[in-house]
Amino acid sequence: MRSLVILISGRGSNMQALLEANLPVDKITVISNNPNASGLTIAQQHGVETVVIDHRSFPDRESFDTALAEKIDTCKPKLIALAGFMRILSDPFVQHYEDRLINVHPSLLPAFTGLNTHSRVLQEGIKIHGCTVHFVTSQLDHGPIVIQAAIPILPDDTEKTLASRVLQQEHRIYPQAVRWFMLDQLNLSNHCVEVRKTSVNDIVLHSPGLQE
Ligand code: GAR
Repeated sequence: MRSLVILISGRGSNMQALLEANLPVDKITVISNNPNASGLTIAQQHGVETVVIDHRSFPDRESFDTALAEKIDTCKPKLIALAGFMRILSDPFVQHYEDRLINVHPSLLPAFTGLNTHSRVLQEGIKIHGCTVHFVTSQLDHGPIVIQAAIPILPDDTEKTLASRVLQQEHRIYPQAVRWFMLDQLNLSNHCVEVRKTSVNDIVLHSPGLQE
């Protein structure tokens, strides 16, 4: 069975893009560490099972991660997708799901790991920005890259306009990455991802920018 677990903490727009992408999956479960995550309502509106595991009920990171993993394992997932899940995961958790845990990040990794990527990109005067879907390793916002989308930074861009245009691209590339994984089209070796049976144009998506 192709089961997908999506972990969220907030708005859940990437989760929504996954739910609406008609992915080749049999079952989806959404888990949030935040009982007030608005994404939970969106998931319920899509008829998807939701679970809350509030990290504040646990004394430390390890005990939360253990409870989270216990729940995830009951779903027997082929893939776990982090979609705005704003918790640092412990090494044992990441190792337990090695090669089947992916994340979407709002920058062209390995540049701009961490938070506030859009404002940092603007401060640096970078001309091209974007987003990345990657496998998760113990190093934060690192790990083998599955797909990236690039957008130009326009003269009038603000943190808000940039965030919005990057998010549109996240919603394109995340479903693509999950689809490839579910169809066994991703090959991981030497820290690199090869996408089988696809065209080069699909692997890196460029946004024309000005018209958008
Ligand atoms: C997205 O922009 C995602 O890339 C980012 O959080 C946002 C969640 O939005 N994730 C990270 O920064 C992880 N390092 P969403 O809840 O609407 O999907």
